[in-house]
Amino acid sequence: MNILLAGGAGYIGSHTAVELLNAGHDVVIVDDYSNSCPEALKRVEQITGKSFVSYEADIKDKKAVSQIFYQNNIDCVIHFAGLKAVGESVRQPVRYYRNNIDTTLTLLECMQEAGVKNIVFSSSATVYGEDNPMPCVETMKRGCCTNPYGWTKYMMEQILEDAAFADAGLSVILLRYFNPVGAHASGLIGEDPQGIPNNLMPYVSQVAVGKRDCLTVFGGDYATPDGTCRRDFIHVMDLANAHLKAIEYAVQRKGVDIFNIGTGTPYSVLDIIKAFEAAAGVRIKYEIGARRAGDLPECWANADKAARVLGWRAQRDLAAMCRDAWKWQSNNPEGYK
Ligand code: NAD
Ligand code: UFG
Repeated sequence: MNILLAGGAGYIGSHTAVELLNAGHDVVIVDDYSNSCPEALKRVEQITGKSFVSYEADIKDKKAVSQIFYQNNIDCVIHFAGLKAVGESVRQPVRYYRNNIDTTLTLLECMQEAGVKNIVFSSSATVYGEDNPMPCVETMKRGCCTNPYGWTKYMMEQILEDAAFADAGLSVILLRYFNPVGAHASGLIGEDPQGIPNNLMPYVSQVAVGKRDCLTVFGGDYATPDGTCRRDFIHVMDLANAHLKAIEYAVQRKGVDIFNIGTGTPYSVLDIIKAFEAAAGVRIKYEIGARRAGDLPECWANADKAARVLGWRAQRDLAAMCRDAWKWQSNNPEGYK
């Protein structure tokens, strides 16, 4: 298949490109490099030994994107292109709504015009309401998001569902990622946050490599086994494999399907610190600080539907997530720069 990866130079997109190319698919990558760089794509070619077409374009630019559709015979779209920093979305809501909603609308319009019928969308566990019991199942109500980023995901899911309702030929897969971490085992590609990392694993990695002094653990007084929050961390290559399974499923059916993509096992912030120390062989300096606004105490997936329908289950454990994150970080202390 020929798969268009919107935002494919980013963290999850680049790992998915490796997985798709290794499985024999062709990819066309479109990215404006607002949160990534072309070097990531060179590394994808290095890992796979395969070349592919890439375009520097803003997915909101309808003219540019529709040309890309007409120049390439696209079978399926995977939509990764979006802004994703929760705190930034609170400070810049209009920018988040504009970028995330508009990219989705532009892709849907271009797909309609080019007759492309399959789309896989990067959604998030953040769409589950605050007061749902754990683990999350796909049938639980969504909404009550705690920030504009989460609301964009909620709205984009709705837009895609409405589009599928109106066009019986459309196949929409919503993948709700839990907490993607780790890197390709080569250490050539990985997560490369700009500035101070917002997320736990890149922060821990940067403390381990000596770029940051000390990790602040946001809250030690939650009603959890060790007092710190628990999350469902998922290896990015397992997540990449879920996209491969999702596109293969997407082209066989019509309508909307939603899948949680997590391991089903929660780990606490302190578990992550310990596992990373073991993988890297260094001490991670940390202090317990105040809770971070908007954090849920616990969040993990029931991923049975993905196993049942897609034949997908996470294969890599927490030790592998930390080992591969450390290989990437220690080989590339300044990221792709
Ligand atoms: P990322 O920032 O590394 O990748 C997103 C890519 O999209 C970047 O390369 C960026 O340059 C590009 N992009 C953004 N706006 C664009 C536009 N208008 N036109 C063209 N390109 C554009 O993020 P990621 O971690 O790879 O996340 C991919 C998707 O998965 C995002 O939609 C994100 O919201 C979602 N998601 C991520 C996580 C996570 O923890 N990483 C969790 C749940 C969902
Ligand atoms: N944490 C710290 N210190 C840090 C960073 C994080 O203690 O410096 C803690 C957080 O408080 C939280 C846990 O580590 O308890 C995980 O935090 P992350 O920021 O890594 O991840 P979140 O679960 O908050 O958010 C992630 C993605 C969002 C997505 C959400 C739900 O970043 O995009 O999962 O899917 F919406």
